[in-house]
Amino acid sequence: MSNKARFTRNILCIGAGYVGGPTMAMIAARCPQYRVTVVDVNPGRIDAWNTDQLPIYEPGLLEVVKIARGRNLFFSTEIERGIGEAEVIFVSVNTPTKTFGAGAGKAADLQYWEKTARDIIRVAQSDKIIVEKSTLPVRTARAMERILDANDKGIHCEVLSNPEFLAEGTAVNDLDHPDRVLIGSHETETGIGARDVLVEIYANWVPRERILTSNVWSAELSKLAANAFLAQRISSINSISALCEKTEANVNEVGRAIGMDSRIGNRFLRASVGFGGSCFKKDILNLVYICETYGLHEVATYWESVVAINDYQKRRFVQTMLRVMFNTIAGKRITLFGFAFKADTGDTRESPAIDVARKLVEEQAHVVITDPQALQNAEKDLAGCRSQVTFTEDPYKAAAGAHAIAVMTEWELYKALDYQRIFDGMEKPAFIFDGRNILDHRELHEMGFNVFPLGEAALKHF
Ligand SMILES: NC(=O)c1ccc[n+]([C@@H]2O[C@H](COP(=O)([O-])OP(=O)(O)OC[C@H]3O[C@@H](n4cnc5c(N)ncnc54)[C@H](O)[C@@H]3O)[C@@H](O)[C@H]2O)c1
Repeated sequence: MSNKARFTRNILCIGAGYVGGPTMAMIAARCPQYRVTVVDVNPGRIDAWNTDQLPIYEPGLLEVVKIARGRNLFFSTEIERGIGEAEVIFVSVNTPTKTFGAGAGKAADLQYWEKTARDIIRVAQSDKIIVEKSTLPVRTARAMERILDANDKGIHCEVLSNPEFLAEGTAVNDLDHPDRVLIGSHETETGIGARDVLVEIYANWVPRERILTSNVWSAELSKLAANAFLAQRISSINSISALCEKTEANVNEVGRAIGMDSRIGNRFLRASVGFGGSCFKKDILNLVYICETYGLHEVATYWESVVAINDYQKRRFVQTMLRVMFNTIAGKRITLFGFAFKADTGDTRESPAIDVARKLVEEQAHVVITDPQALQNAEKDLAGCRSQVTFTEDPYKAAAGAHAIAVMTEWELYKALDYQRIFDGMEKPAFIFDGRNILDHRELHEMGFNVFPLGEAALKHF
């Protein structure tokens, strides 16, 4: 039987990363009637998607991939072939912060995105629905349409915005049971037709009332705004954590009290060493840049302060370490528990652990890093200071002989370690800096540790 006969739709995704891989695996697993192909310029990534050693660590993802791989889910480097065959093309390439030229350090670098538009129109022989999955500046669809419309083949590409709201670490559940799916389209006949196709795809498993439709610009902006709001909550509670440390208030108690206000809600109210991940900082700075280009300077400054507080929190964390360890950490062994930017992922992009490790190295400490999933990425992130950094998967080995431990990632396993054994093997006085407030501070103090939580009184023996 030909593919055309077997499958009712041919879907392509360009970009096999943290978004493209899991989203397409979910569509394929939930919709066996569609053929779903994921392509990427990186052959190593594609090879990994075709094995059981997936290129990203995400709980439950391998099981979902295995449902569909080889049945109606395919990973390939044949981009042109994929474009030629597909009717719906998701684009989930990376859109990092620009590092050069106008807008460097803030604006989104759209070169990968634009290249895919040019690839599509060069190869396409029929009309396509192009779905923006990457996070993009508001009004990017207009630029995309200009490139796609500049063809003399009589082909029409309808651009939809369908931003992805999954969170790494919980991606499978987020995709299976999304709070909402957002689809932005033009209010034209072709726009509405394309929107209905995408609604139909998601409606295979997402309740219809959770599929929101809007205009394209609202959809593009909603993604930037959602990330800005989430990051803002983290910076808000982190700013309060600094005040708590000065006033003997306890940030956990404050967070609980304000979170029970139903207008505020209790999520994203935990103090930490700071937010990380590839998206929050990049997307806020992108929002800041867009505001600046529209002359909205006060709005730009407001959102930029969310990033400034995050940088302050990381700086403050290291300053505390330095201050309480007698103003010198040169030659001291300091162990970082965790390097991923959050638990249940191996992703270290923009992880606060990177900045903390680099600052400790600047102070000439010897930094030991342990993490159950992120060591490979950590080694790349710290390639410039390898002589002062050691990596080990075993947290007990990592902590042996250390002067201090700093918890960087809220991995469950760090809650259940034998801290008495760890304490016995450490240099004294032994310090713990809990950058995620996940440990039992009182118990650690009773064992003999000097404990420095975030946003609450330190428990010291001196
Ligand atoms: N990571 C997240 O949690 C998350 C969540 C929501 C949205 N997003 C957004 O989704 C987008 C992708 O993020 P990601 O984390 O998956 O990035 P990623 O870097 O993991 O993956 C992007 C992939 O695109 C590939 N690529 C780049 N240019 C290409 C081209 N011209 N042709 C084919 N493949 C190409 C790269 O090789 C890479 O494998 C970004 O815009 C990001 O902001 C990310």
